[in-house]
Amino acid sequence: MAAKRYVFITGASSGIGFQFARYCAQRGDALLLVSRSAERLQKAADHIRTQYAADVLTLSCDLTQPSAVADVMEWLDTVQIVPRLIIHNAGFGAFGAFHQLPEESIEEQIAVHDLFPLCFTRRILPRLLEAPPATILFIASTAAFAPVPFLNVYAAAKALQLHSALALRAELDGTGVQVSCCCPGPVATGFFDTAQMSNRPPFPLRLMDPETVVRYTMRQLERGKALIIPGALNRWIARFSQWMPKTTAARIAASLYRRQLNKRK
Ligand SMILES: NC(=O)c1ccc[n+]([C@@H]2O[C@H](COP(=O)([O-])OP(=O)(O)OC[C@H]3O[C@@H](n4cnc5c(N)ncnc54)[C@H](OP(=O)(O)O)[C@@H]3O)[C@@H](O)[C@H]2O)c1
Repeated sequence: MAAKRYVFITGASSGIGFQFARYCAQRGDALLLVSRSAERLQKAADHIRTQYAADVLTLSCDLTQPSAVADVMEWLDTVQIVPRLIIHNAGFGAFGAFHQLPEESIEEQIAVHDLFPLCFTRRILPRLLEAPPATILFIASTAAFAPVPFLNVYAAAKALQLHSALALRAELDGTGVQVSCCCPGPVATGFFDTAQMSNRPPFPLRLMDPETVVRYTMRQLERGKALIIPGALNRWIARFSQWMPKTTAARIAASLYRRQLNKRK
């Protein structure tokens, strides 16, 4: 009997991460799910077990904590599993004027989007390289392509994720470990409530549903794509914002998001 293929997903209790978990369970993968809130994670895991008879292991862990990498590695050592697919998905955005952001939210955004995924990847990589093939997928955002005022730290943290993922991909070329980065545009999840912003994007973008985002991403991942941008309009916006001078992109984004911030007040 073939060994089970384990997929490790962070932020699996809701939204995009939960849909990745469902997709993978449906195709027969076993799951290692991590999120902060134990109750929501358990509920998500129970749903997947019942629906797909999948093997699901969970770890409740706040990935912004300095001990998070060690805690997750200890868990993987205890269960003696090397995942074949790693999806770095957990995250949140803090929307607002930079000088009013709580300092801890700056630290937490950088920790959850950058420090945890990169330090964990560094720790697990030797195991993946010993027994390829394996895949690492980073969930960044179209916000990674330009500076975004009022989502300053979020966009900058996503830019670091994107650059680091693509650099690592080139570094690992030919090793059997594939690294890809998905940059979704606005998706209908709890993200906007957490960020305390309206879920109506400030320009004519439709919110994509998380199932479509995941289906598209997994198809592209299987084709070995480096950069995955779900949605034709999002792909166009990403291309356009890379071509534009960063100062111009920042000014346009500032005027769009300022309007949204004013509506919140
Ligand atoms: N929705 C969008 O428009 C959009 C667009 C582009 C990119 N993204 C990215 O997609 C990813 C998933 O977001 P989503 O839209 O699915 O939002 P979501 O529904 O709010 O889900 C976020 C997930 O991340 C987990 N999480 C947050 N902070 C965590 C922490 N400190 N430790 C552990 N887990 C943590 C949450 O767990 P608990 O809440 O259960 O603790 C939850 O499972 C994020 O990286 C986000 O930046 C979202």
